[in-house]
Amino acid sequence: METVLVTGASGLLGHKLTNMLLEKGYRVIGLYYSHEIPLNSNNLIKVRVDLRDRVKLEDLILKTKPDVIVHAAAYTDVDGCEVNRLDAWTINVEATRSIVRAARITKSYLLYISTDYVFDGEKGSYREDDVPAPVNYYGLTKLVAEELVRASDLLYTIVRPSAIYGVGVGKKNFAVFVAETLAKGGRVKALVDQYVSPTLNTLLAMSLLEIIELRPMGTLHVAGERMSRYDFAVKIARILNLPVENIEKARLSEFKWKAKRPRDSSLDTSKARRLIRTRFYDNELALKMFAREWSEWRAR
Ligand SMILES: NC(=O)c1ccc[n+]([C@@H]2O[C@H](COP(=O)([O-])OP(=O)(O)OC[C@H]3O[C@@H](n4cnc5c(N)ncnc54)[C@H](OP(=O)(O)O)[C@@H]3O)[C@@H](O)[C@H]2O)c1
Repeated sequence: METVLVTGASGLLGHKLTNMLLEKGYRVIGLYYSHEIPLNSNNLIKVRVDLRDRVKLEDLILKTKPDVIVHAAAYTDVDGCEVNRLDAWTINVEATRSIVRAARITKSYLLYISTDYVFDGEKGSYREDDVPAPVNYYGLTKLVAEELVRASDLLYTIVRPSAIYGVGVGKKNFAVFVAETLAKGGRVKALVDQYVSPTLNTLLAMSLLEIIELRPMGTLHVAGERMSRYDFAVKIARILNLPVENIEKARLSEFKWKAKRPRDSSLDTSKARRLIRTRFYDNELALKMFAREWSEWRAR
């Protein structure tokens, strides 16, 4: 039985992946910090580690010698990263450096979760070999971390998703925000001029399971179909039978964020589609899965 160490096991993606790894029979060492991992299993060891504690993080990897490390933790608050730059650098870059350093000794396979925000968003439908040029500090730290992984002599895969959504724990994401607000009778503003490739956490986690089995070396874009935030909000409303007329069209220029956002950070996923059986790119499937998970979640 292989052991997989998952950083960010309490997050939107990490908790899904941890659950699926346990179901597949892996032993999991799940790392968390400020939120509990909402899972229990004899094959799950939960460890509370602040990724800023380099010694503890490296020690844990050296002692547990995982076969696989999935590095899904990050300081994901894009505006927070813009102002708390030291934390952003320490959590997103230095912790990755520590993971690479320890993984070289334990000879673990490293699966690093990066982001579409490494791109400037001027072109859209980015391929893996397009040149990154982040427009905010979050994107910069994730890109530097990618380069640390790439420059190592590890067996690694870098996966770039986009606008991850889903129910459960972790980051309050756009889809859940739209669903909750409309369900309460509220109004939602959604951008007609920002394009992303919304990625359901469940389909992403299923794809990561395949990647862990295949261990393809290099970078892969694993994401949903390109659409504007507005179109995405409308699709969420339609699938949940919520009032579409309560979604207002908005433009990027109306929002005063601390960090600049890429205009079109959508991803071309043809390379990953040739490799992975999971239909991670199929928006209709993703929305149906989201609707089912959303109603199960609400019924709890
Ligand atoms: N969300 C998106 O739209 C998106 C899009 C593209 C790529 N990504 C990437 O996908 C990955 C997963 O994102 P997500 O949406 O699942 O994020 P998330 O829900 O915000 O979870 C972030 C995880 O990182 C952990 N973490 C943060 N700071 C930490 C620290 N100092 N020490 C230890 N753990 C720490 C959190 O632990 P606690 O909560 O327990 O503190 C949590 O488990 C990230 O690498 C992110 O950059 C996300």
